[in-house]
Amino acid sequence: MALDPAGLTSADPAGMLQLISRFPRMCAEAWALAAGVPPPVRPQVVVAAGMGGSGIGGDLLRAVLYDEPAPPVVVVKDYRVPGWVGPQTLLFACSYSGETEETLAAYQQAAERGARCVAITSGGTLLRRARERGDPAVVVPAGLPPRAALPYLFLPMLAVLAAAGAVRSFDDDVAEATDAAAAVAEEMAPGRPDNPARALAAGLVGRLPLIYSATPLLEPAAQRWKDQINENAKTLAGWNTFPELNHNETVGWGMDPDLARRCHVVILRDPREPPRLARRVAITRDLAFARAAGVDEVWARGRGLLARLCSIILIGDFVSWYLALLRGVDPTPVPVIDALKRRLAQEERS
Ligand code: F6R
Repeated sequence: MALDPAGLTSADPAGMLQLISRFPRMCAEAWALAAGVPPPVRPQVVVAAGMGGSGIGGDLLRAVLYDEPAPPVVVVKDYRVPGWVGPQTLLFACSYSGETEETLAAYQQAAERGARCVAITSGGTLLRRARERGDPAVVVPAGLPPRAALPYLFLPMLAVLAAAGAVRSFDDDVAEATDAAAAVAEEMAPGRPDNPARALAAGLVGRLPLIYSATPLLEPAAQRWKDQINENAKTLAGWNTFPELNHNETVGWGMDPDLARRCHVVILRDPREPPRLARRVAITRDLAFARAAGVDEVWARGRGLLARLCSIILIGDFVSWYLALLRGVDPTPVPVIDALKRRLAQEERS
């Protein structure tokens, strides 16, 4: 792979690598973005509504607050919100572009039911509607592909909840996550010899990556790895999580040996994973994954869950970028998503 500066510019003309490398800085910036937003009343339940690159932040919020004495977090990736959404609900409407119809519809429905709403967006219709309704809005820097703006779309939700007194302070967690991400960005940079992200990506070429998180707390990371492989490297991938996959997907490894040899397993490990889950991973490797073309394990870094999630997500972002270059595709454009949105908009108008 040609990774001199000229080669990089032609392989990645829109500079996705720079955006991925900016993740640590974005974490620090994102944490300050909600500072001017008036804190809402402490909610009984939190809904995070958003799609794709603007939706995964909700999954992260749910994971980060799982072990905390916090209101329950429900993630909505739909036009509709659950029937119980009402005045005790705080809904985050997250859409980077501010134009995603599912998110706009969920926002509208929640607002009609009296939910308190906070918009997280770079502009568009969502920002306009939030201003019209007098709802608080966190305005994030514009001009990025939504998936490259993950810290901006995720961390402000945590900051708003902390300001509302609904969760503890996460200042130290964000500082640790920023440092952990910075260490990953340095280690995975193209100039670094023995780069683990590049080596892992090389093993995925021509294979179907299956990303399995060793613990449900890392589930959003497995999903993000899959999404980034889809959108940056333009190839299919799957994801699942232990222990649930032991109750169904493990049996699917009885597939035709030729198919199994087209699959490459990546297991996302957590230094804090319970021993019982570690045993499940070991036994499943033996019983099922031995049939795969290859198996890699990637370990999250850091003490706090936020750092562990951010570090392993960023490793996946780099892997997806290297895989794009190895496949000879431009990591940035997502023409199928754009075409689909255009066609839906045309049909709406006609
Ligand atoms: C594009 C991307 C997509 C979008 C999704 C929703 O980089 O990641 O998954 O995030 O189509 O659009 P927004 O984020 O504008 O609401």
